[in-house]
Amino acid sequence: MSQSASASVLVGVSGGIAAFKAVTVVRLLKKAGYDVYVVPTANALRMVGAATWEAVSGHPVTVDPFTGAADSLHVNLGKQADAVILVPATANLIGKISNGIADDMLTTTFLTATCPVFICPAMHTQMWQAPAVKENVAKLRARGYHFIGPVSGDLTSGDSGEGRLAEPEEIFARFESQFRSHTHSETEATNADQLADSPLRDKHVVVTAGGTREPIDPVRFLSNRSSGRQGAALAEAALKAGAQKVTLVNVNMEVPLPEGVEEVKVSSTLELEKALDELFDSLDVLIMCAAVSDYRPAVVSEEKLKKTASDTFSLELVKNPDLLAQLGARPREGKVLVGFAAETAGGQAGLDFAKRKIQAKQADLLVYNQVGNEQGFGDRPNQVQVINRQGEILGQAAGSKQLVAEKIIEIIINQSILKDAASS
Ligand SMILES: Cc1cc2nc3c(=O)[nH]c(=O)nc-3n(C[C@H](O)[C@H](O)[C@H](O)COP(=O)(O)O)c2cc1C
Repeated sequence: MSQSASASVLVGVSGGIAAFKAVTVVRLLKKAGYDVYVVPTANALRMVGAATWEAVSGHPVTVDPFTGAADSLHVNLGKQADAVILVPATANLIGKISNGIADDMLTTTFLTATCPVFICPAMHTQMWQAPAVKENVAKLRARGYHFIGPVSGDLTSGDSGEGRLAEPEEIFARFESQFRSHTHSETEATNADQLADSPLRDKHVVVTAGGTREPIDPVRFLSNRSSGRQGAALAEAALKAGAQKVTLVNVNMEVPLPEGVEEVKVSSTLELEKALDELFDSLDVLIMCAAVSDYRPAVVSEEKLKKTASDTFSLELVKNPDLLAQLGARPREGKVLVGFAAETAGGQAGLDFAKRKIQAKQADLLVYNQVGNEQGFGDRPNQVQVINRQGEILGQAAGSKQLVAEKIIEIIINQSILKDAASS
């Protein structure tokens, strides 16, 4: 059960097509021990009915503030909430709450809540990019509300782009991690003292996350299954560990960026090479977590490739630059270079490969993890070993990507190059 069990969470659901995914968010919250109250809008009930919300939350739902007038339900619901999650948040709901409109149960209750607020927008890309929505979102961010997503991906309209609701598991994980930091203010005060002494306190940490896409033609590309979750968790862990600045090089990540990081967006290996070249002088720690294609198509067709009569099709590939080796060969006084080796070979064979790789790439640390159909990718937990250039195992971790990230950052912080600089 979660540390925040028994806290009361108000889940506001508005009338977006992704309302059905909020059912999973409610279930995850309930499973973790939260007391969940759902307040839907009238349009949300056109997507998912009241009976579903009542069954999954265990509490009655109402859309009309006049229904519970005798008990001032809207005031009580808002006052008792320890957190509010709006999922999905439509453009309409975002517009209303940014302007203080209170014309239904959800928006009226929202104004009575003084707790942390988490907004999970979902809408078509054009709506998300509309100037009015952008202004409303900026207003809400400035009020200190947390945004989870939206992410890029397939949309109900058949289009693809930014505006898709973050996955329920992601919403739950981000909510838990940020809500916990709100509710533990005493721990935070202690942490603040510790952060002032952190070896990362004046350091710029750069993390690459996601997987490269190597274009074949205007609509197709070669890629891999890396979601960017581990890199996002590393960036978040570096911030928590007191890094002065964290830059996340977003290589087609499927998950939202942690709050507080700076973003550099790239897609292909060559774009990543250029971005790292530009960042290299200013960084102190570089964590190369993104999965990079070894090869790319020799020719990128300007037109969509057509099916031919032949049963086979050949694509000529050329080698991509080896980014880790290139950076490892550069003079880097005071910098820590961390590589990743994701291998399907397990046990000693995998570890031996990792030892050869760190030598060949001249990295300072190498994080070795075994990957495969059931391991390492997406939401699945990760299991890693961290080795140094001498091939010594400095630590290992198994569990959620957050837990693994915290362990990796702890090992990086303990590198003498950072520790000695911090204590001098
Ligand atoms: C099938 C369907 C799907 C919709 N999906 C979305 C959506 O994902 N995001 C959004 O902002 N609006 C969406 N809308 C439009 C909203 O339902 C509309 O703006 C409505 O006024 C929102 O009301 P509410 O915010 O009070 O729930 C959709 C409408 C329909 C009919």
